[in-house]
Amino acid sequence: MASILKTVLRRGWVKPLGIMARWLPGYLRVDFISAGLQSGILQYLNQGSATSKQVAQHFGYDMPMIEGLESWLGVGVQIGELRLARGRYSLRGRRVKTLLKPENDPIAAFFEEFTNLNHRLVMETPERLKRGEWFTLADADPDTVARTSRAGEPWLASAIGEVVPAEGAFRLVEVGCGSGAHIKTAAEINPRLTAQGIELQESAAAQARTNMAEWGLSDRVEIEVRDVLDREGDGTADLVTLHQNIYYFPVEEQSAVLRHLGTYLAPGGKLLVTTVVRDSGSGSVALDLWGAMTEGASRLPTPKELEDRLAAAGYADVGTQKLGPDGMYYAATGTWRG
Ligand SMILES: C[S@@+](CC[C@H](N)C(=O)[O-])C[C@H]1O[C@@H](n2cnc3c(N)ncnc32)[C@H](O)[C@@H]1O
Repeated sequence: MASILKTVLRRGWVKPLGIMARWLPGYLRVDFISAGLQSGILQYLNQGSATSKQVAQHFGYDMPMIEGLESWLGVGVQIGELRLARGRYSLRGRRVKTLLKPENDPIAAFFEEFTNLNHRLVMETPERLKRGEWFTLADADPDTVARTSRAGEPWLASAIGEVVPAEGAFRLVEVGCGSGAHIKTAAEINPRLTAQGIELQESAAAQARTNMAEWGLSDRVEIEVRDVLDREGDGTADLVTLHQNIYYFPVEEQSAVLRHLGTYLAPGGKLLVTTVVRDSGSGSVALDLWGAMTEGASRLPTPKELEDRLAAAGYADVGTQKLGPDGMYYAATGTWRG
C-alpha cells in the first residue's frame, strides 16, 4: 500500500489522477444516460424494477450476451444512476426520472444530440480538416434536432409575443418549423391565426403534424415538406418566421434567402428571425461548430451581421433585440416593403 502511494507520488501522478477522477465519470454518465434513453432501458426501468433477464427478454436481447447487459447496467450502478438490490435494477435518485418527464423531453434530447452529434463534431473536426471532408445535414438526426430546438421556447415565445396580435385574422408562414412548437405559441396568442409550416426534412415534418393533431391545431395549421427555396410565396402572409434556421444557409446567400422569404409576405408584413448568436456561451459553441463544419451551412451570426443581412435583403425598420438576460438568443425583425 505504502509503496503504491510512494510510486504515485514519485511519478507526480496525484494531480493527473485527480483530473481524471474529476472529469471522466461525467463523460461516462452522459454516454450512459444517452444510450439508456435511446435504447428505452431507462424508460422501462422507470416503470419499475427488473432483473437483467427481464430487461433482456423485454428488448429481445440475445441471452448468451446477458453478461454484456449486466456489465452495462453495472456502469449505471457504478455512476449512481441505477440501484441493484436483490438482483433487481431500478432507477436511483431523481436525475433520470426528471429527464423522463414528458415536459422535459427537449432537455433529455440534448443527451442524445451530445453523444451522437456534438461528440463527433468535436472529435472528428481536426481529422476532417486534414481530409477536407465536411459533415452533411444527414449527420444530424432531424427528429432529435426538432426535439432539442424546443428548448428555445421560453426565449422565442417572448419574440413571437411582440409580433403576433392577440386578435384578428392573421396569416403566418413558418420556415423550417421543426416540431411546430413555435407555431403553437403563435396560435395560442391569436385564436384566428392560421399557419403554413414549411419543413425540409420529412421526419421533422411528421413530428410537427403529429404535434398539431395532439394540440388540436390541424384545422388551422398545414405542414408542407419542401425546401423553402423551391418556389416563391404568394405574397399574402402577415408574418414569416425563421426560428433557429438562418445558419442552415451559407453566409453569402443569406440576404438572398431573406429576400426570397419576402415573396411570402404581403406589403407591410413582418419577418422575424430568431437565432442563437456567436460567442454567447457554452450553449452556442457546439452549434457554431456544426454550422462551420456542415456543408452548405454557416457559423452563427453576430447580432450586427443579422441586422446587416436583413437590411441588405431590402427590409425596412430593421432592428435586433436580445431575448433574455443571458444574451444567447437574439431576434431580428424587418418590414417587407413589397
Ligand atoms: C434547428 S431546426 C429548428 C426547428 C424549429 N424552427 C425550432 O426552432 O424549433 C432547423 C430546421 O430548419 C429546417 N430547414 C433547414 N433548411 C430549410 C429549408 N431550406 N427549407 C425548409 N426547412 C429548412 C431543418 O430541416 C430543421 O428542421
